[in-house]
Amino acid sequence: MVLLHGDDPADIDRAAQALAEGRLVAFPTETVYGLGARADDDAAVAGIYAAKGRPAGHPLIVHVADLQGAQAFSPALPPLAQRLVAAFWPGPLTVIVERRPGIGAASAGGQSSIGLRCPAHPVALALLRAAAARGVPGVAAPSANLFGQISPTTAAHVQQAFGEALPVLDGGACEVGIESSIVDCRGPRPVMLRPGLLTRAQIETAAGEALAERAADAPRVSGSLASHYAPRATLRLMKPALLKSALEVLGTDVPGVAVYSRSARPARTGGQGLCWRSMPARPEQVAHELFSVLREFDAGGARLIWVEEPPATPEWEGVRDRLQRAAAA
Ligand code: TXA
Ligand code: MG
Repeated sequence: MVLLHGDDPADIDRAAQALAEGRLVAFPTETVYGLGARADDDAAVAGIYAAKGRPAGHPLIVHVADLQGAQAFSPALPPLAQRLVAAFWPGPLTVIVERRPGIGAASAGGQSSIGLRCPAHPVALALLRAAAARGVPGVAAPSANLFGQISPTTAAHVQQAFGEALPVLDGGACEVGIESSIVDCRGPRPVMLRPGLLTRAQIETAAGEALAERAADAPRVSGSLASHYAPRATLRLMKPALLKSALEVLGTDVPGVAVYSRSARPARTGGQGLCWRSMPARPEQVAHELFSVLREFDAGGARLIWVEEPPATPEWEGVRDRLQRAAAA
């Protein structure tokens, strides 16, 4: 098993060397684990699509150590992107900008734009710097899961999907837990392509511009397929009152049903049916554990997952988005 230790500089060097040689390495970021290949090597990037079973033409995010790395892939970041990057990098923000011709075509899925992110995880940054020192300007990395499945937030999740041949740098459980916010910065105003933990208000404040609506011809975003991030079990999002009455009617002796709820646990327990997890109060707490909780429900044999709808307030947008996609599967 090729588990590399993120806190061991020799393992960081091994991983960086593998990337430099055009091989795949999975690594932790503060959002989710990524499946990386050097972004300036189209053949190496093709290996990512093959390993994930991801259809060609879905662009990947290129991870860079710093602004200099970003400039290798985009000749001049527009002022809007510069402001966002200054506010949120390193961090869970991906900016879509014009791609420098002649580099990163496979990473960009053939598009003339490119998604760039400098992650905040210390292991990711150490890896990107060690790779840059070996001439690797950036690392293309989608989430390290098979296409359509839940993103991994631990090294074990990655190994479950890809087996033991793939080198995985272990950096513990991801702090943020859901994927980065993706903002298209090519127009006069920012466009949110995928919500994450950053709120619209935070992005608008840093950009100095209001977010614009997505155009009909917006670029492809694989996470925007209606069904994505899906557990095996059928997930239903339920309003608090509906969930409460469903539990009153059924009681808690319902095998195969798992509940993830903010409301108080029903008084009547017993039997060996219902699997219950209480949902934390803050969106960042839920984001942090959400994918692990869904995996645990699947592993426990749940057929149905009932999730209490989080509040329809801005700070819950990223979590609501992932739950809605999981429910659409
Ligand atoms: O947090 C994250 O963003 C994680 C970690 C590993 O950084 N990565 C991630 O990658 O979620 P992935 O491939 O699962 O999702 C990347 C998303 C896709 O929905 C893709 O369509 C979009 O980014 N994307 C990448 N480049 C793009 C571009 N040039 N134009 C539009 N969308 C782009
Ligand atoms: Mg993904």
